[in-house]
Amino acid sequence: MRLENKRVLITGAASGIGLACAQVMVSHGARVIGSDIDGSALAAVADEAGMAATMPLDVAEEHDWAAAAAEVSRRFGGLDALVHSAGIGVGGDLTTLPLENWRRQQAVNLDGAFLAVKHMLPLLRASGGGSLTLIASVTGIRGSAVFAPYAASKAGVIALARSAAQASAAAGDNVRVNAIAPGVIATPIFDRMEGVDAAASDPIATAARLVPLGRAGQPEDVAHAAVYLASDEAAYVTGIVLPVDGGLLMR
Ligand SMILES: NC(=O)c1ccc[n+]([C@@H]2O[C@H](COP(=O)([O-])OP(=O)(O)OC[C@H]3O[C@@H](n4cnc5c(N)ncnc54)[C@H](O)[C@@H]3O)[C@@H](O)[C@H]2O)c1
Repeated sequence: MRLENKRVLITGAASGIGLACAQVMVSHGARVIGSDIDGSALAAVADEAGMAATMPLDVAEEHDWAAAAAEVSRRFGGLDALVHSAGIGVGGDLTTLPLENWRRQQAVNLDGAFLAVKHMLPLLRASGGGSLTLIASVTGIRGSAVFAPYAASKAGVIALARSAAQASAAAGDNVRVNAIAPGVIATPIFDRMEGVDAAASDPIATAARLVPLGRAGQPEDVAHAAVYLASDEAAYVTGIVLPVDGGLLMR
């Protein structure tokens, strides 16, 4: 029960890493508010995952964030942690990539992370402090020939997390901000990737080729790291980028 009674908002909670975070955090006693752009997918998993509430939230839309902050405040009286997992993957050759594809990638992954910090940091502060975790990616550290727009968005997420961590530390607001950098995790995101061929978007084959531990990670592997960062056991941990990657960054 490492998150007993903590109020945790999770974005992208209908699938993959966000859903696993919801399930594992509930098992640790958290009151999880699940959000996703796909309301019907979220409704289909919410009860079984034990979510205390759900709300529709397109992370690229500022008015959705404002509404979510008001709703969380009204229904739960504050917030103790945010796990921002919602994201999409756009790849393609940089010399032919349409600008609109680049912008769609940044709008969801980078604007979304900025809006998460902008609207949830005040709520965490008003609640006496807490934890804000952004799901980045090892591609934000390594870069990626195949997923360049995605890698660039995640590099921005990492810099945003570190910047927010420094701002919070300077403000003395008792909010910790960290990023998790997953490697190759077997989730439906690989079926949804834009602009890449099927071979590049097969997590099992990719992991066999790239990951020292020789397998793709499971969403729960990332969720356990998210539990740690949201817990009081991480009270002295801020501004880090925690790889959960089977050793991928060693290569
Ligand atoms: N799976 C991996 O290998 C991997 C590796 C590194 C980082 N990540 C990151 O982990 C996070 C979760 O990815 P996943 O693998 O669980 O993918 P996923 O596709 O299984 O889940 C992503 C969820 O985000 C939701 N979503 C998409 N756009 C949204 C929007 N605009 N607003 C709100 N919700 C939106 C989707 O509906 C989906 O439920 C993403 O940020 C992804 O970039 C994943």
